Amino acid sequence: MAKHKQTSRPAEKLFADDQMNMFEKSYEERLQEEKNKLVECLGMTFENDEKRREYFLEKLREKLKDPEFRKIEGFPIGEDEDILALSDPPYYTACPNPFIADFIKQYGKPYDPAVSYLAEPYAGELAATRNNRFVNAHSYATKVPHEIVAKLILHYTEPGDIVLDAFAGTGMTAVGAQLCGDFETLRDMGLSQHGKKNLIAEDGHSFRMPGARNSIVIDICPAATFLGANFNLPHMPSEYDQSVKKIREAVNRECGWMYKTRHESDQYGHISCTLWSDVFVCPECGGEIVFWDAAVDTANSAITDVIKCSPL
Ligand SMILES: C[S@@+](CC[C@H](N)C(=O)[O-])C[C@H]1O[C@@H](n2cnc3c(N)ncnc32)[C@H](O)[C@@H]1O
Repeated sequence: MAKHKQTSRPAEKLFADDQMNMFEKSYEERLQEEKNKLVECLGMTFENDEKRREYFLEKLREKLKDPEFRKIEGFPIGEDEDILALSDPPYYTACPNPFIADFIKQYGKPYDPAVSYLAEPYAGELAATRNNRFVNAHSYATKVPHEIVAKLILHYTEPGDIVLDAFAGTGMTAVGAQLCGDFETLRDMGLSQHGKKNLIAEDGHSFRMPGARNSIVIDICPAATFLGANFNLPHMPSEYDQSVKKIREAVNRECGWMYKTRHESDQYGHISCTLWSDVFVCPECGGEIVFWDAAVDTANSAITDVIKCSPL
């Protein structure tokens, strides 16, 4: 009879955090499997995803040596090695993407005059929340909710079409285009499909067929394209987690002192946000009114409609 050997190893978690049951593979395991499979990309087959990456990085490296390529207006100021380190070609390049023509050749459909491309202007509902994981992940002043983009894409295009957003900011058009094929998201947006028919919204609007659309998203701002790429390309959650921890620790070492504050109890705490108050001038007496002091009722979490000037 075999004896169970006691060891002092710390207990290992049986399941990944987002895993629902014993037989389900974690997202990370599925991604790893995908990465190790044969990869089709722009008409070529690679042994695995890393080989695809190596091949296209080499192509991008050659292209970066071409002085004409670097003359494109708005080309980022950066060393070749930095551009290559940020890029994941042909999907994302931290400079004008030299693979766009190949992408269109692969996924585009030539214009066919026999096909009617007519689409009536969209007149359905376009409500969306700005409280979602894509908006909350970071700030970007003009970010558009992905549900709105997805509805417009579902109204005007067919699965597999290419959608272009040349002012794409953080890539929400690409997120919307991908999510047109995600039934959980479509359900959350109030869209349902009966049989193999078109999607129907709660207000009765009929959309075209569900299914991911391809997209090309461009922006002149390198920070925006970096965010856009990271929202749209698959990532290993554990690698991401480790990188975020390293960055947080490094930033905390260098800048943490700026966010330190002394509590009334003489203990130290960390500032997580600061509120600045407007200061108004009373039209009667010319005295200053600090809006926060005069109008905010913290006990009842309310802001009063009428404020009184109480000059000193
Ligand atoms: C209204 S924002 C788009 C925001 C985007 N819908 C999102 O959800 O993040 C417009 C974008 O156009 C970009 N832009 C401005 N001029 C540009 C140009 N000449 N070429 C490419 N992008 C440009 C800006 O950097 C900005 O990110």
